Amino acid sequence: MLKAVILIGGPQKGTRFRPLSLDTPKPLFPVAGRPLIAHHIEACVQVKELREILIIGFYPQQQMEGFVGDMQALYSSSNINIRYLQEFTSLGTAGGMYHFRDQIRAGNPRAFFVLNGDVCADFPLQELYGFHIGRPASALVTIMSTEATRQQSLHYGCLVFDRESGAVSHYVEKPSSYVSTYINCGVYVCSMDIFTKLAQIFHAKCEEYNCISYCGNGGNGNGKDQGHIKWEQEVLTPLAGTDKLYAMPVPNWWSQMKTAGSAIYANRHYLDLYKRTHPERLANVGQKRGEGDGNLICTVFPDVYVHPSATVHHSAVLGPNVAIGPGVIIGPGVRIRESIVLEQAQIKDHTLILHSIVGRGCSIGAWTRVEGTPSDPDPNKPFAKMENPPLFNNEGKLNPSITILGCFVQIPAEKILLNSIVLPHKELSRSFKNEIIL
Ligand code: GDD
Ligand code: GTP
Repeated sequence: MLKAVILIGGPQKGTRFRPLSLDTPKPLFPVAGRPLIAHHIEACVQVKELREILIIGFYPQQQMEGFVGDMQALYSSSNINIRYLQEFTSLGTAGGMYHFRDQIRAGNPRAFFVLNGDVCADFPLQELYGFHIGRPASALVTIMSTEATRQQSLHYGCLVFDRESGAVSHYVEKPSSYVSTYINCGVYVCSMDIFTKLAQIFHAKCEEYNCISYCGNGGNGNGKDQGHIKWEQEVLTPLAGTDKLYAMPVPNWWSQMKTAGSAIYANRHYLDLYKRTHPERLANVGQKRGEGDGNLICTVFPDVYVHPSATVHHSAVLGPNVAIGPGVIIGPGVRIRESIVLEQAQIKDHTLILHSIVGRGCSIGAWTRVEGTPSDPDPNKPFAKMENPPLFNNEGKLNPSITILGCFVQIPAEKILLNSIVLPHKELSRSFKNEIIL
C-alpha cells in the first residue's frame, strides 16, 4: 500500500499570489478548470496501490472541507481516502509530516509520496516509485528532478548526483552561487524509515531549545515552534552523500506556481495535458454543448476549457489557452485569449480579455479592453523556467505583468486596463495602465 502527502502551507504563505489568494486559498485556485491540488490528487489516484492522500497545511479546516468532500465524492469508487490534516501553526515543510507521522504510518504503507502543493507538472509518480524501489535498501528519499538554466537554478534546491546510480552527493537549497542545473521539483518518494531521521532531528532540536531557555534567552529563541522542521535544509542536505538520497531526472513539463503569471502558464500546460489524459474536458471547435442554445460555442482556438454551466454567446471567440469557470456569462463578440475567467464573472459585448485573470463575480462592460503582459519562459533558452519577477523594478515602477482583477471588480464600458492589478470589490471609473488599484 502507498500513500501521498500534499503540502499546502497556509494563509500567510503564497503572498505573491495576491489578490487572487485573498478569497480562495492558493491551493484551491482553479487552473484548467480544476483546483490546483486537484491535479496532484488526479496524478496520485493513477498510482496503483495508492490508498490514502493526506493534505497537510495550516489553512482553517472549514476552508478545505468543501474541497476534500468534493474530491472524496469524485474518487469514491476508487477506494482512496482523502483527508485534510491541519497544523496548529506553520511547522515548515517537514514539521507537519513529523507531527502527523502516526496518520501517515497507519495501515503500514510501503512508502509515501510527498508533493509540494505549489508546483504544477505532468507528475510521473508511478515511474518515480519504480525508480525508488530499484535503489539500494538504504534509500530513504528519491527526489524528482528537472533541469533549469544556470542562472535560474539558484532559486531552487540544487542537487549533484551520479547519472548512473542516481545517488545524490550534494544538496543545497537556493544556493547563492552556482551548484548544479539539476533542481528539486518538490516531488518525492520516501521510505518509512525517514521517520527515524525526522525523530532524530526533532529530539536534537528539543534539547537545543531547552538549553537556550535554561540559559535565559527565552523560549526557543527564534519565535518558531520547536516542531518546525525544514525538509530541504534539515533533512535533504544532511542526507546527501550518505547513500540515502537519490534523484530521478525527468523530462516532463514542470513549473512552480508562485505568481499569477505562472497560473496562466500552468493553465496552458494542463489544458495541453488534457489532450492526452481527458480530451472530453476540452471544448472543440464549433462544439454544441448540453444546456440550450446559450451554450453554443462558435469559434474556439484550442485549447479551451468551458465549465458546463457557463453561457457563451455564439459570436464570442475563445482561445488559445483559456479556462472559463462555472456560471460565467460571455456576451456577443467577446474575444478571450491566454486567460482565466473565474466563476460568475460577466463579460459584456465585444470586450477583449488578453493575458489576464478575471476574478470571481467580476463585471466587465461592453467594448472594454483588459490586457496583461505574459512572463513566459524564454523559448530560446533550453530548460528555461518561468521567471517570477518582483512586482516593482529598480525605479519603483510596476513590472509589466498579467492583469489581475480581484473578485467582484466592476469595470464600466469602453475602458482600457493594461498591466494592472485591481484589488477585490473595486468599481473602476476610468482607464488604467501599469497600476495597482487598491
Ligand atoms: N503543511 C505545510 N506547513 N506546508 C508548508 C509549510 C508549512 O509550514 N511551509 C511550506 N509549505 C508548503 C508550501 O505550501 C509549498 O507547497 C511547499 O511546502 C514548499 O514550500 P516553500 O517554503 O514555498 O518552498 P519553495 O517553493 O520556495 O521551494 C521548494 O520547492 C521548490 C520546487 O518548487 C523547495 O523544496 C525547493 O528545493 C524546490 O526547488
Ligand atoms: P510567496 O508568498 O508566493 O513568495 O510564497 P513563499 O512560499 O515564498 O512564502 P512567503 O513569501 O509567504 O513567505 C516569505 C518567506 O517566509 C518564505 O520564503 C520562507 O522563507 C519564510 N517562511 C515563513 N513561514 C514559513 C514556513 O512555514 N515554512 C517555510 N519553509 N518557510 C516559511
